[in-house]
Amino acid sequence: MSISFNKPYLTGKEIHYIELAVKSGKISGNGIFTKKCQDFFQERYGFKKCLLTTSCTDALEMCAILAEIKQDDEVIVPSYTFVSSALAFVRQGAKIVFADSRADYPGIDENKIEGLITPKTKVIVPVHYAGIACDMDKIMFLANKYNLLVIEDAAQSIDSFYKGKPLGSIGHMAAFSFHETKNINSGEGGLLAINDPRFIKRSEIIWEKGTNRAEFYRGEVNKYGWIDIGSSFLPSEIIAAYLWAQLENLAEIQKKRIEIWHKYFNGLYDWASKNGVQLPQIPDYATTNGHIFYMVCESEYQRNQIITYLKENGVHAVFHYLSLHKSSFYSNKQNGRELPQSDRYTNCLMRLPLFFELTRDEIENIINLIKRMI
Ligand SMILES: Cc1ncc(COP(=O)(O)O)c(C=O)c1O
Repeated sequence: MSISFNKPYLTGKEIHYIELAVKSGKISGNGIFTKKCQDFFQERYGFKKCLLTTSCTDALEMCAILAEIKQDDEVIVPSYTFVSSALAFVRQGAKIVFADSRADYPGIDENKIEGLITPKTKVIVPVHYAGIACDMDKIMFLANKYNLLVIEDAAQSIDSFYKGKPLGSIGHMAAFSFHETKNINSGEGGLLAINDPRFIKRSEIIWEKGTNRAEFYRGEVNKYGWIDIGSSFLPSEIIAAYLWAQLENLAEIQKKRIEIWHKYFNGLYDWASKNGVQLPQIPDYATTNGHIFYMVCESEYQRNQIITYLKENGVHAVFHYLSLHKSSFYSNKQNGRELPQSDRYTNCLMRLPLFFELTRDEIENIINLIKRMI
């Protein structure tokens, strides 16, 4: 048996749409496929403005610019997350104040945020781990109380919901990823979603290297020029064409991944409770989008034993993030506060293979291997 951790799914239309983009003679960014993808997100999820980017990291960098982060502004970020959730703000000079995760879920502990807010705090970055929503009402309440911005790191959160609201639609802005490990992918790719209209006009300028070229393309001005800072954040039409083929199949992809997620959950439920392993707990207000199936083991030893055993039997399971407050880049910049839940997830969390083409037999084999081992 040989089962990889991830296998990017091809819907079969990607090459066709790429060919159309190439034949159209317009393969730079902001063309027909870019517009189709952006409109799709705006219409389906009600985001006020969407811009495709070359990655979620880029979308987060755009958020940091739009939030006007300056030297020594403070940004509250969970320590248990991908580097980009913090990096995008550090590039603008921010100081990151790391928050701990909840005991029942790797996302930010909303009850630990208020104690971290100071007069320098500007932004809170909730990361919806595994596409499972953070408690957004509590986070938005704090943002209103202290006049802060909320930037949702929705890298893993496509088509997932909080109290019926799409993730990415609740904060002032949000960033999604279409990296090849995500439910919907374009190899590398991302999306900036803006919900607060104050940021819309400037977002297009930052996206187009600090120019008003997007306005020019729409025929709203007769020449364009340099009016702000920015970068080349937009992907080419080749990427957008690929992404469009994926988006057309969103419903089918989601259905399949959620089915796989539930097969793991049901198949491992009894075993997990007998062996001190915590399976994902979905709060009443949240949904799963079948992005990640994770388990939190009793100890690092148990976690590593399971990963090794699966590997010996041809199954590639993996651990996930390493606490950012302990990273070699940031540990000396933070004040030594302990973040025990973040460290627990660093040491004890593991993820099982989850991709569209994973078969029923393969899932059963993985479940049986785990049960046989301990
Ligand atoms: C929570 C989170 N934020 C941001 C990113 C960065 O995404 P990208 O690779 O599209 O830049 C990732 C990547 O997996 C992630 O997991």
